[in-house]
Amino acid sequence: MSSHGDPIQMQSKASGPLQGTAHVPGDKSISHRSLILGALSVGETTIKGLLEGQDVLDTAKAMQAFGAQVERDDDGTWHVNGVGVGGFAEPDQVIDCGNSGTGVRLIMGAMATSPISATFTGDASLNKRPMARVTDPLALFGCQTVGRSEGRLPMTLVGADDPVPVNYTVPVPSAQVKSAVLFAGLNAPGQTIVIEKEATRDHTERMFAGFGAEITTEETNEGRVITLTGQPELTPQHIEVPRDPSSAAFPVCAALIVPGSDVLVPNIGLNPTRAGLYFTLRDMGADLTFENEREEGGEPVADLRARFSPDLVGIEVPAHRAASMIDEYPVLSVVASFAKGETHMPGVKELRVKESDRIAAMADGLRAAGVTIDDGPDWWTVHGLGHGNVRGGMTAATHLDHRIAMSFLVMGMATQQPVTLDDGGPIATSFPIFETLMGDMGAHIERL
Ligand code: S3P
Repeated sequence: MSSHGDPIQMQSKASGPLQGTAHVPGDKSISHRSLILGALSVGETTIKGLLEGQDVLDTAKAMQAFGAQVERDDDGTWHVNGVGVGGFAEPDQVIDCGNSGTGVRLIMGAMATSPISATFTGDASLNKRPMARVTDPLALFGCQTVGRSEGRLPMTLVGADDPVPVNYTVPVPSAQVKSAVLFAGLNAPGQTIVIEKEATRDHTERMFAGFGAEITTEETNEGRVITLTGQPELTPQHIEVPRDPSSAAFPVCAALIVPGSDVLVPNIGLNPTRAGLYFTLRDMGADLTFENEREEGGEPVADLRARFSPDLVGIEVPAHRAASMIDEYPVLSVVASFAKGETHMPGVKELRVKESDRIAAMADGLRAAGVTIDDGPDWWTVHGLGHGNVRGGMTAATHLDHRIAMSFLVMGMATQQPVTLDDGGPIATSFPIFETLMGDMGAHIERL
């Protein structure tokens, strides 16, 4: 089932060559954070290039429910009139975050240190995902939560009347957990310290600083120590959201496996905490170049150029790279199926608790397409068949997971037989223009 309606069966088949320029939408992580930080500032934040996917629209609605004014111009600029740190009003309705783990976890953090209560829910995928990883550290600030068994949504959070600052070492590599704690720390007096052993995406730290919070990061033997001084007055910003490297992965990977392709994907952020896929693809022998490399808003940016690469080879993907490409393993496993030899992906336990169990979802579909997969709790291996040798011809289950859906549609563009998807509806959560953008470049995707 799609999250917001009837299932949309889709199919992709041998395509191409893919050619042209793919302007992918705005970064999902930065879009969520822009809306929440705008809501926590006093005055008007403007946002250009916001991802208008369902996940982010749900966060915009939530910020309205907490008292911020959020409006979209006819020209696509978003205006957020915030209520200030500690200024959230108590919502008079349940907050439905749809499919978005990032949305719900960051918003829970942002309200946990205010003296208000709110009830959160989501779709069938989100309501299965672990929330204790967030509610455990938030309890240290003095808030309380009542949810379903194993800390799942729906859940009511009673914010702390008198929050205390927290010193917390994040036990799993998760930017969402780190960020939930930092958002809560905004309204706690004194210094909140978060330590992460493995670096995860650092958009929260960069954006807090951009909005005027006092926040420092120090690399130590224990890991990255992030120190936030609470109760700042955040100043509204004008934000240009960069394009999403996780969405760019789909046209890039499609171009690598579809014969004759040559695709340009401009303005992609190559923040080292996000860009692991692109280095991995180059290690596999992909014809992928970074053109026009530059800095924008303090972030490295380039235009990605991907061309058909018939001689890809399987590799050992370094475990230390996992956090920097965690959302890209599904589509990487597709590329690995078209490479010669094994691609081993260790250190990826987190893939089991995403919008779906992404190892299981990809392994099932890839096996049905004729690819051999081995997997364990925190690793998997794709036995690549080489270009031209992947059969396809199966129906893959999406499990309410946008990235599983897009990965299998990319796969079908280069398999011997078409690939069918039980439900392409979830694609709208992160990449609503996927079908038209890929179709305009020469991909054969249709709704059945
Ligand atoms: C995100 C962090 C990642 C990622 C998600 C977006 C974020 O999740 O998978 O799509 O914006 O902070 P985890 O932090 O749980 O690994």
